[in-house]
Amino acid sequence: MTRWIGTSWKMNKTLAEARTYARGLREALSSRPELTEGVQPFIIPPHTALAAVAAEIGPSSSSPGSAPGVLLGAQNAHWEDSGAWTGEVSVPQVADAGASLVEIGHSERREHFGETVETTRFKVEAALRHGLIPLLCIGESAQVRQEGGAAGFLLDQARGALQGLTEEQLSRVLIAYEPIWAIGAQGRPAEVDELLEPFDVLHREYGDRVEALLYGGSVTPANAPELLAIPGVEGLFIGRAAWSLQGYLELLQLAARPSDA
Ligand code: PGA
Repeated sequence: MTRWIGTSWKMNKTLAEARTYARGLREALSSRPELTEGVQPFIIPPHTALAAVAAEIGPSSSSPGSAPGVLLGAQNAHWEDSGAWTGEVSVPQVADAGASLVEIGHSERREHFGETVETTRFKVEAALRHGLIPLLCIGESAQVRQEGGAAGFLLDQARGALQGLTEEQLSRVLIAYEPIWAIGAQGRPAEVDELLEPFDVLHREYGDRVEALLYGGSVTPANAPELLAIPGVEGLFIGRAAWSLQGYLELLQLAARPSDA
């Protein structure tokens, strides 16, 4: 099983900072190939830095499975291919800039930018139509969890976004479970016990059908090993802890597994 270990930089990094990180990553992975054994790394810069990061990482990065190739992703893309959608970018545009993956439905986009189950479905379809990997983010609020509805909520979000897909299309999808209460500086890291049921539910419904199930929310080098050991977890989607190259390399090292292990 390949572990997917990736980071979204969210609304961070200038072009110069993005290039420095990407160049350092390329150099580190060339000189330390063990960092990506059994791992598929992915980086999701802001749109402004996609092309620059792609140029630093190199053209071999765009095909999945070409490890130690790093896949690049976009943090969002519109479901239409082009048109009068001021301020938006399309899937063909992010692909043109070097993305082979599209993040869809992050809780920050659902909360602040009106992302709905319906728009996540449109975007998943658009990504697949153009041969990109949809990275669908799902997660419940603290209130939903307190009321005992987390499992049903997650399944509703996932089923709503993925409905109508063929099994072949589904097999190209990544799902990241990111409880809202565990994300970002305001969040609190989840206890392993709190993640067992959601991953059990998601694994039973999607484990054998999607590309991989990931966990995200306050991941650090300290908690990554125990998170990766949760049944059903096949990767990590990281924010703050991987915004420094050092942090990301440390997380890759923790996740990497020599092929004969
Ligand atoms: P965090 O962000 O690791 O900084 O909590 C995770 C995410 O939003 O995906």
